[in-house]
This record gives sequence, structure tokens and C-alpha cells, in this order.
Amino acid sequence: MEFQLTEEQQMVRKMAREFAERDVAPKARELDAESRWPTELVKGMAELGLLGVAVPEEFGGAGMDNVSYALAIEEISRACASTGVIMSVNNSLVCDPLNKFGSDAQKKEWLTPLASGEKLGCFGLTEPSSGSDASDMQTVAVKDGDEWVIDGSKNWITNGPHADMILVFCCTDRSQGARGTTAFIVPKGTPGFNPQPADHKLGIHAAHSCTMFFENCRIPDSLRVGEPGMGFKIAMSTLDGGRIGIAAQALGIAQAAFEKAVAYSQERKAFGEPLAKKQAIQFKIADMAMELDAARVLILRAAWMKDQAVKDKSVRHTQQSAMAKLYASEMATRVTHQALQIFGGYGYSKEYDMERHYRDARITEIYEGTSEIMRIVIAATALKG
Ligand code: CAA
Repeated sequence: MEFQLTEEQQMVRKMAREFAERDVAPKARELDAESRWPTELVKGMAELGLLGVAVPEEFGGAGMDNVSYALAIEEISRACASTGVIMSVNNSLVCDPLNKFGSDAQKKEWLTPLASGEKLGCFGLTEPSSGSDASDMQTVAVKDGDEWVIDGSKNWITNGPHADMILVFCCTDRSQGARGTTAFIVPKGTPGFNPQPADHKLGIHAAHSCTMFFENCRIPDSLRVGEPGMGFKIAMSTLDGGRIGIAAQALGIAQAAFEKAVAYSQERKAFGEPLAKKQAIQFKIADMAMELDAARVLILRAAWMKDQAVKDKSVRHTQQSAMAKLYASEMATRVTHQALQIFGGYGYSKEYDMERHYRDARITEIYEGTSEIMRIVIAATALKG
């Protein structure tokens, strides 16, 4: 067993860290305060190959592995969680399924510009009345000759207001339950496809999400991804990868809060000595350091298993991804809570980053599968043996 990163993985981490510290971190507070979409940072990530990290070079990607991808997401999210999730959605939820399930023509026309960052994508599974119960969808696609007609709505679609396409999941045969779901690419500008204005949220303000309406939206059969009825499995296996990205995002947020709390505890004096001399503070720091490390190990293991799955289709990492996401997201909530506590009143102030980290951490327990769904997935795989 090796606990060392390869030279290539270290190089990707270094490159992502340099970009994050130089270009992302100085803007993060302003992006959050103004809920501003970071156009220039999305372009910067595209130039560095960060929008298609694990996509083969022949399809516009950087041709790296999933461990490198997780390391890069952590670094970007350490600077700005919004920028981190924009990156994660394009990589995990759009490029990855197109790479795995797309036709040759779809890889050429869609995956290549998406992985190179010339275009941006989003993923439409959630609906106003079904989030966790993902197969219970009301959005339908009906076959009409060589076309499909889509009607319905999707919501909380991260990247939605800015995306050039959506990978959308629709019910095509209600009698088949989850096996009656089909995936489609719907390009921006298709008549009847109407993205709505950005949502107002507690955190990740710069990562815009929105509702999408589909009204008599016609697309050719060539934009169907995978076979009819395969959509739910495509969505689930995509989320097995996406959850690694969100876990790494949570880790980046928590790491940032931890580093700032440690530095503050060494500067700030109370009762005649730095806070860091107090055992009450040391115990918090110890717990935070240990939990960060545990999350990192779970995330890197899940990413490593996803790399094995690329080589061997029989490898599944559903449970490892769910464990990484569950632990890292709940850890981020705990760590940002304790880091804010160490900052005291300053932690609650908009003048510092801590309240942003605290708000940003919370969503990681909700999107791409809630903590409750992660426990269901882990239990189901554990009970199966
Ligand atoms: N990989 C491949 N196939 C899978 C799978 C996986 N990980 N998990 C399930 N399947 C297959 C099953 O084998 C089964 O196939 P068969 O019909 O051939 O037997 C089929 O899918 C149905 O499986 P289940 O019976 O387990 O399905 P379920 O309806 O009970 O749902 C669930 C299971 C785990 C609760 C699932 O609905 C789920 O993950 N819900 C959470 C949804 C979610 O994460 N949403 C996030 C939205 S994306 C987002 O947040 C994006 C953003 O903008 C950031």
C-alpha cells in the first residue's frame, strides 16, 4: 500500500493551488457578497485543463486521473467553494457521463468542447417535487418520429443560468419505474427550453443555480444519451463520481476554515496568552485536524477506486463515494462551526471569511445526495455484503 501521491498528482495539486491562491482567493469574498458568477475564473480553469481533468486528451480533457481531480477540487474550494462546485458539476456530472455513455458523435460534438472549457454543462435530475426520491420524476419525454418532446421542470440546477447544455433525465415509460428513465442532451437555445433566473441561497452565492422549464421542447433522437430506460443507472453511476467531487469541495472548505482558525488562535490573546495555549482550544484543533485527515483518506480512496473502475468495469465505488461524501460534508459542518467559535465575534462578521465558510459548508450535506441518502446507500451496500 502506497500513501504517496505520484509526481503527476503532486503537479496537478500544485498548479491548482497556485491558481487558487493567486486568482481565486483574492476575489472569493467579493464574489460571495455580490453573488457574482466568476466568468474570468471559469475561463482560467478552462485554460488550465480543470474543467475536464479526468477526460482523455482526445476528447479535450487533461487526461489526468480521478485522484488528481479530487486534489484539484479541494484546492479550488479551499479558496472559493462556489468556483469549486462549478468545476465539479462540469467534470463529474457532465463530462464523466458523456465520456462513459455518450456516442462517438456526442463525444465529438459535446464532450470535447465541454472538457476543454469552451462550453459549460449542467445536470438535471432534481425536480420541484422529487429530490431524494430521484426516480419519481414528472418530467416526461415522448417519442415522436425521430424526435423526443420534453415537458416538465427541473430545479436547483447548478451552473444552469450559464450552461450551454443540460444533461437531463426524463421519464419515458412510467410503467417501468426507474427502468423507464432516459437521459438527453438539451442544448441552450432549443425552443421550449427555458432556464429561469438564479436562485437565492444561504451559501455558494457565486455558483448560480436555477429552475429549468421544458415546454414542448423537441430534440432529435441523436441527443439521447445511452439506451432508452438506462437513464436512472446513468444518473446513479454519475453521482457515484459526483459525490467524490462534493466530498473534496467540503474538504477544501473545512481546510480553509481550519488554517484560518489555527493562525488566529496563535495571534489572538485572552487572559494574558494566545488562545492556542488554552487546552480548550487545543482540543478543538486536535479534533479538527484528525477529522480533516480522515476525510482526506476516505476521499482519496474513493477517487483511487474510481480510477480502478476506469480500467476494470466490474469495480464499483458506490459505497466508498457515499462514505467519503457523508463523512467529509458532516465534517465540514463541524469544522467550520468550531473554527468560527475560535474566531468568536469576528467569525460572525462579514469582514472575515469564516462566516462564508460556515454557510458554504452546509450545502455539501444536501446536494448530490443528502446525508440521509448517503446512509441509505452505505447501508444497502453493507447489507448486500
Ligand atoms: N450505479 C449503477 N446503477 C445503480 C446505482 C449505482 N450507483 N444505484 C442504483 N442503481 C440501479 C439499481 O441497480 C437498480 O437497477 P435494476 O432496476 O436493474 O435493479 C436501479 O438503479 C434502481 O435502484 P434502486 O431501487 O436502489 O433505486 P431507488 O429508487 O430506491 O433510489 C437512491 C435509490 C439511492 C435513493 C437514489 O434515488 C438516490 O441516490 N437519490 C438521491 C438523488 C441525488 O443524489 N440527487 C442529487 C441531484 S444532483 C445535484 O444535486 C446536482 C447539483 O446541481 C450540484
